[in-house]
Amino acid sequence: KWETAAPGDYTGWRVLITAGGTREPLDPVRFLGNRSSGKQGYALAARAAARGALVRLISANVSLPTPEGVEIERVESALEMQQAVREDVGWADLVIMAAAVADFRPAAYAENKIKKTHDAADPEAAPMIALERNPDILAGLVADRGEATKPVIVGFAAETGEPGRSVLELGAEKLARKGCDLLVVNEVGAEKTFGQDENTVHILRGDGQPGLDAGPASKDEIADAILNLAIKVMA
Ligand code: CTP
Ligand code: CA
Repeated sequence: KWETAAPGDYTGWRVLITAGGTREPLDPVRFLGNRSSGKQGYALAARAAARGALVRLISANVSLPTPEGVEIERVESALEMQQAVREDVGWADLVIMAAAVADFRPAAYAENKIKKTHDAADPEAAPMIALERNPDILAGLVADRGEATKPVIVGFAAETGEPGRSVLELGAEKLARKGCDLLVVNEVGAEKTFGQDENTVHILRGDGQPGLDAGPASKDEIADAILNLAIKVMA
């Protein structure tokens, strides 16, 4: 069991949180997206604000009420999210990247809606959609921070596991690769986590100190567990 939150322990801390899932535009009416509901990121914003923090929430395509006392900025795509994060990172003591950021976006954006018969020469043809890599926002934050200690950076990892490689092994590798201070590893699958109200996570620390397993518990309780560890790293 994790420690309970001390009331007001986040007073004076500036917390920047991303939540939701990016949409990568294909044409004016279509996008590539993912199933992130934004619930865990919103719970983090609500709990940080309730504990006294100044909270800015960069929200991608979430249909949830804005938590009380939280400043919100809405974005759609990964590129928009990166720009919004960059504008606020200098303000923040703590950045929590809870958003599901698309790794790829359509390489070309069609200014007009793509028609079913998009190729006059072959009316039955289906189009190919070429993709290109999006920037890794989290890795960019770690790189830009360099030797500085501020802001503390928290990443999330949704993992399904692979044959012969556990969720925890994949999480530890990702933590080393990303270089963030905490990585919240979330086990996902067809019925796990996405859109659910309960969550189970392993929180790994980048400094090698023991992390924390939390859950199954409500996303508010998971949020408090993450914030409890983050404030230790910040202190
Ligand atoms: N992330 C990001 N920018 C991206 C992709 C991911 O900032 N373009 C952040 C997410 O917000 C999350 C963390 O990186 O905090 C890990 O995301 P995840 O998708 O698990 O990691 P990837 O490095 O994209 O690896 P994978 O191949 O498993 O998708
Ligand atoms: Ca990814």
